[in-house]
Amino acid sequence: GSTQKEIQMSTETERRLGKLLDSSRGAVLNIDSGGASSLGSNEPLLGVNVREPVSTLITNSEKQRLSLELKQRQENSKASDVAKKMQSFREKLPAFKERSRFLKAVAENQVLVVSGETGCGKTTQLPQFILEEEISCLRGADCSIICTQPRRISAISVAARVSSERGENLGGTVGYQIRLEAKRSSETRLLFCTTGVLLRQLVQEPELTGVSHLLVDEIHERGINEDFLLIILRDLLPRRPDLRLILMSATINADLFSKYFGNAPTIHIPGFTFPVSELFLEDVLEKSCYIMKSESNYYQGNSRRRRQQESRKDPLSELFEDVDIETHYKNYSTSTRHSLEAWSASQLDLNLVEATIEYICRHEGDGAILVFLTGWDDISKLIDKVKVNNFLGDRGKFLVLPLHGSLPTINQREIFDRPPPNKRKIVLATNIAESSITVDDVVYVIDCGKAKEASYDALNKLACLLPSWISKASAHQRRGRAGRVQPGVCYRLYPKITYDAMLEYQLPEILRTPLQELSLHIKSLQLGTVGSFLAKALQPPDPLSVQNAIELLKTIGALDDMEELTPLGRHLCTLPMDPSIGKMLLMGAIFQCINPALTIAAALAHRDPFVLPLNRKEIADAAKKSFAGDSCSDHIALLKAFEGYKNAKQNGKERAFCWENFLSPVTLQMMEDMRMNFLDLLSDIGFVDKSRNASAYNQYSNDLEMVCAILCAGLYPNVVQCKRRGKGTAFYTKEVGKVDIHPSSVNAGIHHFPLPYLVYGEKVKTNGILVRDSTNISDYALLMFGGNLIPSKSGDGIEMLEGYIHFSAPKSVIDLIKKLRGELDKLLKRK
Ligand code: CDP
Ligand code: MG
Repeated sequence: GSTQKEIQMSTETERRLGKLLDSSRGAVLNIDSGGASSLGSNEPLLGVNVREPVSTLITNSEKQRLSLELKQRQENSKASDVAKKMQSFREKLPAFKERSRFLKAVAENQVLVVSGETGCGKTTQLPQFILEEEISCLRGADCSIICTQPRRISAISVAARVSSERGENLGGTVGYQIRLEAKRSSETRLLFCTTGVLLRQLVQEPELTGVSHLLVDEIHERGINEDFLLIILRDLLPRRPDLRLILMSATINADLFSKYFGNAPTIHIPGFTFPVSELFLEDVLEKSCYIMKSESNYYQGNSRRRRQQESRKDPLSELFEDVDIETHYKNYSTSTRHSLEAWSASQLDLNLVEATIEYICRHEGDGAILVFLTGWDDISKLIDKVKVNNFLGDRGKFLVLPLHGSLPTINQREIFDRPPPNKRKIVLATNIAESSITVDDVVYVIDCGKAKEASYDALNKLACLLPSWISKASAHQRRGRAGRVQPGVCYRLYPKITYDAMLEYQLPEILRTPLQELSLHIKSLQLGTVGSFLAKALQPPDPLSVQNAIELLKTIGALDDMEELTPLGRHLCTLPMDPSIGKMLLMGAIFQCINPALTIAAALAHRDPFVLPLNRKEIADAAKKSFAGDSCSDHIALLKAFEGYKNAKQNGKERAFCWENFLSPVTLQMMEDMRMNFLDLLSDIGFVDKSRNASAYNQYSNDLEMVCAILCAGLYPNVVQCKRRGKGTAFYTKEVGKVDIHPSSVNAGIHHFPLPYLVYGEKVKTNGILVRDSTNISDYALLMFGGNLIPSKSGDGIEMLEGYIHFSAPKSVIDLIKKLRGELDKLLKRK
C-alpha cells in the first residue's frame, strides 16, 4: 500500500516547511560562506600510515648502518636486568620450544598456520621471534612486521607487553595503532594494530608495500574483519611473493584455514594446562538437594526452622537460598537446541552468579576468579551488586576488575599482575577473556554459558545483538582459563543437557550480521562487485544478505545505480562505524547541530543510558517520558537526559541526577568518550575544524525540528507509517507490515501522533515485531533527508522506498527541495 499524502501550502504547512528549509538552507549556505577552506582537508584518513616508508627512502649503506644499529641496541636492551628476568618467563612458555621450528617454517613457506592452546605464547612470542631473528641477521632496516588483533584493548596490551619483554619503551621498535590512537615511531619494526586499521590502510596501500611479515591473530574467532582480510590476502599473495603470512588460532579448526590457503603447512604448539574440574548447574542443585533429603524435617520445615539448622547446612545450599535453582534447572534443562534460541533472550540471573562468587570466596582456597558474563550491562550491574553485598563488606580483601573490549583504558597491569597478599582478584569479563587476554592466576572460572551474539534475519531485515548460548568450543576455552597455574574449577551455571545441545562451533560473524559496512569497504578498496567478491570467502554469506546491503546503501545514497560510490559514500567509507550512524554525524556537522548528532550517534553505536529496574519500571518510564516532553521521541529523551547529566556534572551532582532519573552513569561516561572519538573522526576527514568555536557547529542544536530531521537522515529507511485506526494508531513498515511500539518507548501508549511518520533505530522480534526507539517526524524531514527522490509514475509527485511513501506536492515545493538537495550534494562532492 502506498500513502497518498497531500501537501497543501496552507499557512501552517508553509510555516513548518519554511522553517525546516530555512534552517537547512541556512546551514548549507553558512557552510558555503563560513570558511569552506578552513574546513576542507586532504589529510589521509588516519594521519599515520601503517608503515612509515623509511627503508624505501634510504640508500643501501644507510640501511646497513641502521641494521647494525638496531642489532646493537637489541643486544644492549636484552642485557638489562628487567629483560633478563622477562627472558626466563618467556623461556617457560610452550611457544619457546618451537622457536626454531617456527622460524624455519616462516622462512620456507609463504603461508603458515599456527595453532596452540590459549596462553602458550602465540601473540606475544611469535611476532617477537621474527623481530629478534630479523634484527640479529642484520635485516632490521628492511623488516616490517604487522600483527593484527580483533580488539583495540588486546592490541595495546600486547604491544606494551612485548616492548617490556624486550626491555624497551613502547613506541620504539614495538608499537601499536588503533583507531585514533597510536604509539609508534620511525623505529617501529613490529606493529600491533586492530584488523580494522589494517583494512583501512589497504585503501591507500593495496599491495601492503614494505610489509615483510603479516600475522593475523585470533582467526578461529571468525570475526567479519578477519574473514574479509583473508579473502584480500589470498588474492594478494601471488602478487607479493616476498610477503610472509602467518595465521594464528587457538586450537580450533586449524585445518579449515590451511585448506583455504592451498594446504598451507600448520604448526601446533603443544601446551600444558592443569586439570580443571567441571560443575554443572545440576551438581550445584544436587549438593543442596543432598542436604535437603538427608534432613527431611528441614526440607519440610518452615523458614524459621531452617534458620535454626543453619549450622548443619551445606554452605552451598545456604548461599543459594535466594536463588530459585530448581526453576533454573527446569528451565535450562528443557532448552533443547531448538528452544535454545528462545532461552537466549532471557536474562541471566545475576543472583546465581553472585552466590557462586560468594561461595568460592567463603569456602574455596586462594586464587583469582574469572567470571564470564555477556556484556557491559551484566558487568556493571554485578559490580554494583558485589559492592553492596555484605560478604564483600571488607572491601580491602577484594580486587574487583572489569574486563571489556570497549573499556577506554583499563588499568592494564592490575588485570595481569598477582594481587597483593590477602586480596582476591575477581575479574568480570566478556568473552574477550576467552582467548585474547590471558589472566594467568585464575583458579576459578564461572561460566554463564552465554555471550552477546549478533544475528541477522535477511528475510525480515532484522538485526539483533542478543545474549546467545556459546558453542562447545567456547565453553572449552572458558574452562581452560582456570588451569594456568594449578588445578582449577569451572562452575557452569547451566546444566549438562544444555551443554550437550550447544553447537560445536559458533557460526562465523560474516553469516550473521548485516553487510552494509563491509560492502562499503569492498567498494572503497575497488574489489569488484560485492557479490562476486564475497563469494570467495571461507564461508560465503547468503546472497540475500548481500543484496539487502547493496539496496540499503543505494537507498541511503552511498552507492549509485551502478553500485559505485557516491561522494557521500566516499565519506562514509572513512568513518569506521555503521553507515547510518556515519551519515547522521555528517549531516549533524553540515547542518550545524553537531552536539545532538554526536550524543544520539554515541547512544546508537553503544547503548542508551536508560536503565529499567524491574520493580520500579513505572517510575523509570515516567522519568524517561518527562525528558521527552511532547517531542514523541525516544532520541530527544535521550538527548535531554544527556544534557541534564552534563549540567549536573558541572556541579558535581551527576550521581544523584542519574539515581533520580534511572540513568546509568557508566553508560553516560562511555557516551562522553565516544562523542570525543566521533568528533575526532569528523575532524580527521575535514568536516569539523577543531580550531573553530563549537558554536559554529551548533547554530541549530536547540531547534528540535531540525534535530529530528537529522535523525531522519541517519535512520532512513527505518520508517514507520502511522495510520489512524479508530481511537488509536496503527503502525506499518515496508518490509514486515504491521508492527508495534516497544513498551519501553516514550511513544508506547500514545494514541495520536502529531506527525505522520516515525523513524526508528532498530526493530526486534519477540511475539510480534516491535520498533524499539522511535521519533515522530514530518513529511518535510523525509522529503529533505529521506533517500532518493523519484518522480512518481503518474507525474503528480515524489516517491520513496519504491512507492511505499508517496508525496504529492506543488511543483514549487519540490523544486525548492531539489535545489537544496543539489546544494548538499555539491557540498559533499567538494569535501
Ligand atoms: O596468544 P596466546 O594466547 O598463545 O598467549 P599470549 O597472549 O602470548 O600470552 C603468553 C603469556 O604472556 C601468558 O602467560 C600471559 O598471561 C602473559 N601476558 C602478560 O603477562 N601480559 C600481557 N599483556 C600479555 C600476556
Ligand atoms: Mg593470543
